[in-house]
This record gives sequence, C-alpha cells and structure tokens, in this order.
Amino acid sequence: QKQKVLVTRNVPQAAIEIIKSSQSCDLDYWDSEDPIPRDELLKRVAGLDGLYCLLTEKIDSELLDTAGPQLKVVSTMSVGYDHISLPETAKRSIAVGHTPGVLTDATATLTVALLLATQRRLIEAAGEVKNGGWGTWKPLWMCGPTLTGSTVGIVGFGRIGIAVAQRLAPFGVSRFLYCDVNKKPESVEKLVSPKAEHVDMDTLLKESDFVSAHTALTDETAGMFNRNVFSKMKRSAVFINTSRGGVVNQEDLYEALKSGQIWGAGLDVTVPEPLPTDHPLLSLSNCVILPHIGSAEESTREAMATLAARNLLAGLAGESLPAQAK
Ligand code: GLV
Ligand code: GLV
Repeated sequence: QKQKVLVTRNVPQAAIEIIKSSQSCDLDYWDSEDPIPRDELLKRVAGLDGLYCLLTEKIDSELLDTAGPQLKVVSTMSVGYDHISLPETAKRSIAVGHTPGVLTDATATLTVALLLATQRRLIEAAGEVKNGGWGTWKPLWMCGPTLTGSTVGIVGFGRIGIAVAQRLAPFGVSRFLYCDVNKKPESVEKLVSPKAEHVDMDTLLKESDFVSAHTALTDETAGMFNRNVFSKMKRSAVFINTSRGGVVNQEDLYEALKSGQIWGAGLDVTVPEPLPTDHPLLSLSNCVILPHIGSAEESTREAMATLAARNLLAGLAGESLPAQAK
C-alpha cells in the first residue's frame, strides 16, 4: 500500500526527485506557479498520509479533519510556520517539519540590502534619474540617516537576527542592542562585534537608529510594532521587517511614517501578501516594500525544498524529522 502525498506548488525539482525516489509514495503534484485554491486543496487532502505545503496554505482544523486520521506529517517549505496550527496538529499527533538554518544567510543578506536601500533611498533616488528629477549634484538631496557609528536594535536575536548583526558589523556600527525572550549566552553575544547587548524593549526603541524585526509571528508578537512602539523610536529611526507582516500594525506604521514619527521603513513582508497596489503604504516615499523575497537565492530555495522533502519522508516513515517545528 503506497502512501499518498500532496505537493501544493511547483517546487525545485530536486525535492520532487527525493520524494519520487521513495518507492512507497503515491505523489499528487500541484505543479503550478500559483497557490492551490482552498477548495481544490480540501478535495485533494482527503486520505493523505503526508502534506508538503508552503506558507500560502492555511493548515487548520478544517483541513486536518478533511485529511483524516491517517495524516502523519505536514512539511512546509519555509522556516516560518505561523500558517500551521500547532495545537491542532499536536492533538492529532501529526509531525510538523520546517526549514530552519538553510535560509539564514539569504534572508540576512536581503535584510541588509533592504536596510541600505531604505537608509540611502535607493529606490526613490533611482526613480528620480528616470523621471527627470535629477537636476544637479545637491548637498542636501537624497540624504538619509548614517549607518556608520549608529546603534542597531535587533528584535528577536535568533539565527537570522544574529546573521544580520554580523553582516552590519563591518559597516562600523557602534552598538548592537537586542531584545529576546531570554538573554543569550555571552558566547552568542560575542558572535557580533561589538558584542550584542541584551536590553529591554523600551531601551532598544529609545536608543536604536535602526530597528530590525526577526521574531516569529505568534499570539505574543502579532501586531507588536504598533503606535506605542513607533512613538518610542527616534524620529530619525529606520524600521526594517523581513519576518512576518503580522508583527506590524500597518495602520500605525503608516501614521508613523506619514507624520514623521519615524524616518523610514523597509518591509519584505506585509498583510496581506500581495499588498494591493492602492495600499496607503505604497504612496509613501519613505517606505520601501519588497514582495517577500528574503530567501530568494537559487541554492537557498533548493536547500529549503530538499529539507522539506526529507522532513516529509521521515514523517511518513514514523521517524523523527530532520527539522521539526516546535
Ligand atoms: C519565508 O518567509 C519562510 O518562512 O521561509
Ligand atoms: C562626491 O561625489 C564627492 O566627490 O564628494
């Protein structure tokens, strides 16, 4: 009896080869650039043993009930798993796999690129070249806040937060502050130079020139970057988010950017995704928005896809997953 598996999108071929190499899988492949419609997904999950999904699929009690009690594993090709209800999978003893580690470098690099693009106004400036706004070299034109000598605040000092700080260090950042549920061991703080300092959120907001969000989206972090938080930042502060759009209250961010409460923002993630082209945030010149491309390096996407395939096969075999969500 073969085990039924659904892959919900076209993913790097290496992952499909891994799944096919397991002779025991009967593969249903939604080989499309676009997300599987919800009703189609619900039809196809019935009777599944293993589900390979992306962050675009909501894995909730409705879907798990429709799948049935034989479902053993849900494997997402993403590090974030806020789209999967862990209480519901736990209730049904379903293993959940994700892809930590393999996208740390790519996401940290994109974070730095977005920070630089926001701080040095690259998108706005390049636009001026095209639209005739480049009159002459002007001393006060297209200036942004200074990175060298600045204080950088990292909210969520995990794999990606640390890698961001490491990449920013060579620019001559003078202080790294971080907030995290727990203070990290000195050995971890010293992965960054100068050594990262654990502070409370108010101190981080008050003292940072750049604030970068690297927390998972949970009940505790949903909407945490709100009016109150932006009001505590410097008026010269730059806010960067490459984690999940849901950690930001976007109405409050819009107000903070519009009123000059903070200087600028760079977002790789929004609510919803895609952001409608008439969204107020897109009308602001001091907000750079990217289409959730943090991990978009070819080899990174392949590594995510193959790790998710290995998680899937381990779950089908009843083995512990190479990378289990918890
Ligand atoms: C991307 O956002 C991921 O969670 O992998
Ligand atoms: C800028 O181009 C300068 O020469 O200062």
